[in-house]
Amino acid sequence: MRIDVLTIFPSMLEPVLNESIIKRARVAGKVDIRLHNIRDYTLDKHRKVDDRPYGGGCGMVMMPQPIFSCLESVLKKARGKTRLRRILLLSAKGRKLEQKDFFKLSRYEHLVLICGRYEGVDERVAHDLADEEVSVGDYVLTGGEIPAMVVIDATVRLLPGVLGNESSAKFESFQDGLLEYPQYTRPAKFCGKKVPSVLLTGDHAKIAAWRKKEALKITKKIRPDLLEK
Ligand SMILES: C[S@@+](CC[C@H](N)C(=O)[O-])C[C@H]1O[C@@H](n2cnc3c(N)ncnc32)[C@H](O)[C@@H]1O
Repeated sequence: MRIDVLTIFPSMLEPVLNESIIKRARVAGKVDIRLHNIRDYTLDKHRKVDDRPYGGGCGMVMMPQPIFSCLESVLKKARGKTRLRRILLLSAKGRKLEQKDFFKLSRYEHLVLICGRYEGVDERVAHDLADEEVSVGDYVLTGGEIPAMVVIDATVRLLPGVLGNESSAKFESFQDGLLEYPQYTRPAKFCGKKVPSVLLTGDHAKIAAWRKKEALKITKKIRPDLLEK
């Protein structure tokens, strides 16, 4: 998979992309992630990428030209290399992403992530450039870089061969509409608190039944909406 990120703060992403599982996936050639500074594409002599909103209002809005030019350059270089492409604009007013969306995204050959800043991005980017506007949650962040990192992390870990154990992604929260059951490791007793005894029995059927019951209990308490779905 190839991922291109369009941002005015590429250095924000570098440290996150150069650690742990994502770094290993890059080194192993499972994912090719490229960062592009939108500011490098502005035609403004002061390297401006934003302007005041038409109709008034507070803050600044990212202008379409630098983003259109940056994307044009990215697509020109990627031409012929990728068939299945998805261009996403990170946006608080976008459709909220769920785990099932990341499974779908992991099947694309090429993702392009456009990060907004300031009060947001000129609507023509959402309308004419992006396939979809997506949100990582019902809250407002200062920019699209952290959401882009969320999208990269949640997608890349689902690519074949990226997680050490393929079943890790099959048995986790949201997979079957439930939150994950509680996990324990050694020691069996810590500060007077014991691990649930069923986990020490070695009886796989009993353990599976206990985990299912606990997953249902936790989901009902914390995310009843998942059960309604
Ligand atoms: C300060 S926000 C703009 C918020 C916008 N004025 C609004 O009310 O929806 C600046 C940028 O951060 C990013 N952003 C903020 N919250 C986000 C979220 N929940 N999901 C995805 N991107 C987000 C978007 O790229 C957005 O253009």
